[in-house]
Parts: sequence; structure tokens; C-alpha cells
Amino acid sequence: MPVDQLEFRRVMGHFATGVTVVTTHDGAGKLAGLTANAVASVSLEPPMMLVCVDKKSDSYPAFGASQVFAVNILSNAQETLSRRFAKSGGDKFTGVGYTLGVTGAPVLSDTIAHLECRVRHEFDAGDHTIYVGEAVEISVRSEGDPLLYFRGGYRNLSA
Ligand SMILES: Cc1cc2nc3c(=O)[nH]c(=O)nc-3n(C[C@H](O)[C@H](O)[C@H](O)COP(=O)(O)O)c2cc1C
Repeated sequence: MPVDQLEFRRVMGHFATGVTVVTTHDGAGKLAGLTANAVASVSLEPPMMLVCVDKKSDSYPAFGASQVFAVNILSNAQETLSRRFAKSGGDKFTGVGYTLGVTGAPVLSDTIAHLECRVRHEFDAGDHTIYVGEAVEISVRSEGDPLLYFRGGYRNLSA
């Protein structure tokens, strides 16, 4: 019997993760980004990480166009930002603090840490594409607590 999609989502919801906003640009000045927890470090030599991006997301074409992305690791004070980037449509960046990084991808303000990457490999994976990027600029920006996601809801380390 094939695995039911909703059950797959429910089961994987038991895997607690941090929350990131993965940002990029389309190579012509338009910024894009989405909330993502399907991110992981992959390799140390060279330092590489992966992000899994839904082919149906509005942001998707920009990843292919620019071949760069920034992973912004959110703090527990950034749930509103996470919700904003988890909705398609509108200008997600209006009123949001950011600077453009060395890759041109937006690096969001007040995160815990960020990594900017240049895509080295990409893999077709069902309804998502896995982008594996080499980290070219990284930094820890605060020692604050992370925003967490578990069983379909936002959590804090202490709650
Ligand atoms: C906690 C959380 C984690 C998510 N992780 C991913 C992910 O790893 N990859 C992805 O493509 N979408 C993920 N999403 C869904 C996107 O954020 C959502 O589809 C968003 O609307 C896409 O925005 P866009 O269409 O403007 O690009 C996640 C959403 C939430 C709330």
C-alpha cells in the first residue's frame, strides 16, 4: 500500500527541527524567500549544505536563476517572520530588516546565524528540488535561543 501523504506529513512532524528562512534572488534584482526546515549540513570539505525547495513555490524559479541562497536561522523572537515567509504572494521583504550578502541573497536581521551558499549540485526529488550549496560566507550573529517546529506547531526550547 502506498504511504498516505497526510500520514507522511504527520509522522515527519514528529521530527523536531529549527526553522530557517531561505532567501535568494532572481538575478535581475527581485528578492525571494521561503520558510524552510528541510535544510541540513552535508559536507565539511568543502562545507556544503542542502535545502529542499518545492517546485510549486513562488520562490522556486529564483533559485534556478541565481544559483545562490542564504539560510537564515531564526531566533525564538522571529515566529512572525517565519509565518510571513511561509505564505506565498505579496512583497515579503517590505518592512523586514536585511542586507544583501556577498551572493546578492538577502541576509535577514536579528537571526541566530546565517550561511550564504553557491549551488554546486541539484537533484530532482519528487515535487521538490534539492539544492546543495557550498557555504561561502557564514556567521553566528547572536547566542539567543532558536525557533523550533514540532508536530505542526512552533515551539521554544523551554516550552
Ligand atoms: C515550519 C515550516 C517549514 C517549511 N519547510 C519548507 C521546506 O523545507 N521547503 C519548502 O519548499 N517549503 C517549506 N515550507 C513551506 C513554504 O514556506 C511555503 O510553501 C511558502 O508559502 C512558500 O513561499 P513562496 O511560494 O512565496 O516561495 C515550510 C513551511 C513551514 C511553516
